Amino acid sequence: LNSRQLKEFREALLAWFSQFQRDLPWRHTGDPYRIWVSEVMLQQTRVAAVIPYYERFLARFPDVRALAEAPQEEVLRLWSGLGYYHRARNLQRAAQQIISRHADKFPRTHAEIKELAGIGEYTAAAVSSIAFGERLAVLDGNVARVLARLDAIRGDLREPKRWSGLQARADELLAPERPGDWNQAVMELGATLCTPRSPQCLLCPVQGFCEARKLGLTEGLPEKRKNRAVVSIYLAAAVLVDELGHSLLLPPPGNSNQHRGDDHVPSLVAKLWHFPTASVQSDAETSLKNILDGLYAMKRWSAFRGERLQAVRHTVTYRKIHIAPFLVRVSRLPKLIGARSAPLDELMEQPISNLTRKVARQAAAHLSESKKAE
Ligand code: ADE
Repeated sequence: LNSRQLKEFREALLAWFSQFQRDLPWRHTGDPYRIWVSEVMLQQTRVAAVIPYYERFLARFPDVRALAEAPQEEVLRLWSGLGYYHRARNLQRAAQQIISRHADKFPRTHAEIKELAGIGEYTAAAVSSIAFGERLAVLDGNVARVLARLDAIRGDLREPKRWSGLQARADELLAPERPGDWNQAVMELGATLCTPRSPQCLLCPVQGFCEARKLGLTEGLPEKRKNRAVVSIYLAAAVLVDELGHSLLLPPPGNSNQHRGDDHVPSLVAKLWHFPTASVQSDAETSLKNILDGLYAMKRWSAFRGERLQAVRHTVTYRKIHIAPFLVRVSRLPKLIGARSAPLDELMEQPISNLTRKVARQAAAHLSESKKAE
């Protein structure tokens, strides 16, 4: 693009964004805190899923100090279901850093922002361009796809050399007078028209600039990434239910000492409140016995009968988790320091992952079925 074309390109995309951008809650604010929260939630999570979480989160934590001073448990509870919980922990840690290092005021420079917990290149550029008008181009999956089509770039975009080439290209294209709008416009184009499948080129404000379109390559770009091999993980989980209908959840590590019966749980599962879980070495029943053996600390498991629930599957990035859940009726729940017991519907209000939620739902469905059968 020569400088005249570059000007036309920017004007066309910005005009389209002004007219057609979606009305999203974080587009009504200039508050860097609110913009930051939205950008962190939007990582690896779709806009539609984020909106209700965003609104609840900000109603409860309206500013940096409210977030910094909240119990971590509360932060995780409001994040429960969004996934990738390190984002919530880092968000709170960064809020605490803003209080201690920057006297409660959100730092204004890209360098200071990047020093905060959990903030990388993308988030720092997004917040400093949108909230403070710094001239920094964002590069995420949406932007990369738009640029790959614009320049008909082949190959795996995430290869480090290609990715830094894309960053350089994003920096060149950035509209220097309106960096925040520009970044959002490119992301918006990727999210709404320049989509991975069936891009809507006829509606695209910059179709005339698109090299992939000229070459008839739009659908084939970006080329498929070499997928990371999927790793399957097999687990067994025990939903204990006592005579009052109470069940037991174990805490995330760090809250108290590690529990017996919770020795071999991948941190994937154990980072939030979770049912007693063990990896499956041979068969799920043996793992269940190991769990119960650990929980009750005596060889009493032979007295228990686990009722097998429907299997639960859950995928987190490249890991495919298969859980064999069991409902185990007991006369008393084990007494464990730091564990929580309550009826299942109350346990679902704890900070639990979607995976644990799926297991809890299976158990609840099974319990109401067996009640009906009585
Ligand atoms: N995805 C992540 N952040 C975004 C933003 N600010 N606008 C549009 N899509 C986004």
